[in-house]
Order: sequence, then structure tokens, then C-alpha cells
Amino acid sequence: MPFGSAIQAEYFDDAGYRALFRDHCDIVLPMNELKFDLVHPEREVFAFEPADRLVDFATENGKRSRGHTVVWWNGVPPWLAALNDPREIETELRRHVDAVVGRYAGRLESWDVCNEVVAHEAPYDAPMRDSFWQRALGSRHIPIAFRAVAGADPKAKLVLNDYDLEFRGERYDRRRASIVEIARQLQDAAIRIDAVGIQGHLYADQAVDIEALGRFGEALKRMGIALIVTELDVIDWKISGGPAGQDAAAAKSVGDLLEGVFAAGPPLAVIAWGMTDRHSWVDDVMPHGDGTPSRPLPFDATGRPKHWFRLIEKRLREG
Ligand code: XIL
Repeated sequence: MPFGSAIQAEYFDDAGYRALFRDHCDIVLPMNELKFDLVHPEREVFAFEPADRLVDFATENGKRSRGHTVVWWNGVPPWLAALNDPREIETELRRHVDAVVGRYAGRLESWDVCNEVVAHEAPYDAPMRDSFWQRALGSRHIPIAFRAVAGADPKAKLVLNDYDLEFRGERYDRRRASIVEIARQLQDAAIRIDAVGIQGHLYADQAVDIEALGRFGEALKRMGIALIVTELDVIDWKISGGPAGQDAAAAKSVGDLLEGVFAAGPPLAVIAWGMTDRHSWVDDVMPHGDGTPSRPLPFDATGRPKHWFRLIEKRLREG
């Protein structure tokens, strides 16, 4: 089973950073460089160079790669956000997919076609996130995007990716149910969906619901849909006890996630959201209140592997 990680163009010149991906990953993907606003900043301007550099690095080193992401509430470029006509927006979405997914066809084994389309709280009466896409096209933006990506790269696996799918509690049950429902609607419309992406941004202070993850994986498996862990890291902002305490809590979270995810059979891959604590979004967005550096990623800031990275390697070897 492959292990992978997301790499960032802004740190690419750091040879030590690059080496972590070269030495430990089977899959290396651009973290941000294929997001709509970065790769397509103006209506007639595509900025492929940073993504090209990262995908070339992956292939030149014998790695696989994947695409993140087409439809997302975040990263809608201003030129697109300024449009009002639903038909025009739909046309632009298709044009974007043809250009971006088409360009990398055959080189990215899967795409996060839709990212974070479930509402944060996911109430049963309004499970869809209020986003530019939802406002412009309604929930049919999801089938439109899946069909378009399938057309632009017929061999790429199509992934519905979301967060907060692994913890214990009613809100998480609702979010899991919403994902299954969206997948069912795609299939009812005869649209292919190959996998559900569990982002796996793990709050170390929250219990992973191993049983619920198992049921989730089984329900999807019955529909012919696999799981893939797409953005694994550990948010330890509420964990005290210094590095040893943070790493122990992280190992528990990651171990439980693996148990839950593997319950229905091995996932397509386990992918981390970076390799080293030197560079992570967690310290920017969810820092420790007291200034303690967070320890979200498989290798620490000096490049030493955490115990939980060894857990993943072992699990992926064993299947
Ligand atoms: C984050 C990146 O890690 C940051 O570098 C960037 O500034 C913002 O986006 N869920 C997702 C990812 O699907 O795309 C986000 O990545 C993190 C949350």
C-alpha cells in the first residue's frame, strides 16, 4: 500500500525537504499548486509552472502523483467569483477541467474532484456547504465536476474529499452520512465515484471513532467505493506535556485512524499533508496558545521520524 505526502513549491529549493519526499514517499502531490486560483488566476491565464515542477519531481523520482483539487469553496479566483450567470460559470468550470485535468491526464492517478462540499455542521436539512459553487449551480455542481473530470482524464480515479469524518459524535455521524448520500446520488445518476477521501486532519484531543469509521468504510465498499486518506496530520494545539506528550497523543490518534480505515480493507493510500514539522499549515491556523511549536507531521523539524510514521509503514506493509 502506498504512502504519500503533499509537497509545496515554496520550499522545493530546500534539498533536505525534497529528500524526505524522495526517500519516504510512493506518492508526491502538489499541496496547493493545482488549486483553482493558483493554477488559473485569470480567465485566460493558467500558471502551470509550479505544479509542473512538483509533478515532474514526482515522476522523475519514480513516484506516483495525484490532483488536489477542482471544486472547493476556498480558492475561487476573483475573476470567477465576479461571474453571475450560472451557464457561464458551468462553462468556465468545464473549461478549467479540460485545461487542467486534461494537461496532466495520465500523470495524476486520482483527483480530489470535490473538496469539502459538506456543510461544517452538516444539519440533516442542509447538508451542503454554502459556497460559490453551491450558490451558482446548486448541488448539481458535484455531478458536473465529476463528469467533467472523468471526461478530461478517463483513467484518473475520482475522489470526493472531506474533513471531520473520523471522530466520535453526532456531528461526525451526520457528516459521514452526508458523504454516503452524495456518493449515492452520484451513482444513481450513473456517475462514477471511485473513492472517498478522508482528509485526516486529526485533532489529538478528540477520540477517533474506530467502529463508525469501519461502518463508513463498509457502507462505501458495498457501493464499490474505496477509502483514501488524503491529508493526514495531527493538530495538537490542546495537548500539553511537551514533545513527548504531543507525540504520544499523535500516535494514539494515527493508530486509531489506521484501525478504523483498514477495517473495511486497505485504503488506496495513506497521504500526509507535508513531511516535516518545519513546514505545516497547522502552526499558522491552529497554533498552541502558549507558543509551543506544534508537531503535526511524520518527521519532526530536524527531520527525525515520529513513532507514528513507523506505525503507518508497518500497517501499509501488512495491508
Ligand atoms: C491548506 C494548505 O496546507 C496551506 O498551505 C494553504 O495555505 C491553505 O490550504 N483542507 C484542504 C487543504 O483540503 O487544501 C488545505 O490546505 C487544508 C485543509
